[in-house]
Amino acid sequence: MKKISLKPNNDFCPQTLFLYGTYDENGNPDFGLFCWFSYIWDGELGAMCCIGGNKTTRENIERGKIFSANLVTEELLNVADYLGCTSGSDPDKMKIDLDIGKGEVLNVPILNNSPVNFELEVTDFITKHDGLVMLCKIRNILQDESLSSDESVEQKLSRIAPVKTTAQTYLSFNGKTLGGWGEPGKDLKK
Ligand SMILES: Cc1cc2nc3c(=O)[nH]c(=O)nc-3n(C[C@H](O)[C@H](O)[C@H](O)COP(=O)(O)O)c2cc1C
Repeated sequence: MKKISLKPNNDFCPQTLFLYGTYDENGNPDFGLFCWFSYIWDGELGAMCCIGGNKTTRENIERGKIFSANLVTEELLNVADYLGCTSGSDPDKMKIDLDIGKGEVLNVPILNNSPVNFELEVTDFITKHDGLVMLCKIRNILQDESLSSDESVEQKLSRIAPVKTTAQTYLSFNGKTLGGWGEPGKDLKK
């Protein structure tokens, strides 16, 4: 295999997408789209996330120290893309049709149509020059009860259809292109 050297990027390293749910200081929900999400071990499974720059999600998490991470599926993709391309500073951002519920353990907004909702509490904020790394305890996971069936993992994943992303492109669980960033949600833009 012949290699070429490149500047920092993560193309061809697919990531799972999540919508982070937070409340602002008035109790209004905000959702943003995130892919810099992975896991840590500290006696039990935890989560680690990075938020770059200033955004409403960051402000809300720094204030409340809790948020939800909702797995993005193909059914949610147009809404997810819209929420990832629209800043929370836009007062009309959340005026779209969303089925929003509440966490079971933490006071966080969740998306009822997402089959996996993590309820996360931040234990460590690591503030960098223009980014924030957060280490989190998983306080609860709300999971679609149909995922406890006897189907294979492949059948379950094909059914819920989580979306991956790399190279500014959305991909289905089976690797089919679902559009570029900014495309699936463009009709929701006001
Ligand atoms: C596909 C996709 C993935 C994204 N992943 C991240 C991420 O991991 N970290 C981040 O800081 N911003 C990420 N963003 C940008 C935020 O979703 C975007 O800034 C959004 O407007 C934040 O909303 P808010 O202002 O309501 O928090 C991503 C955007 C897209 C389209």
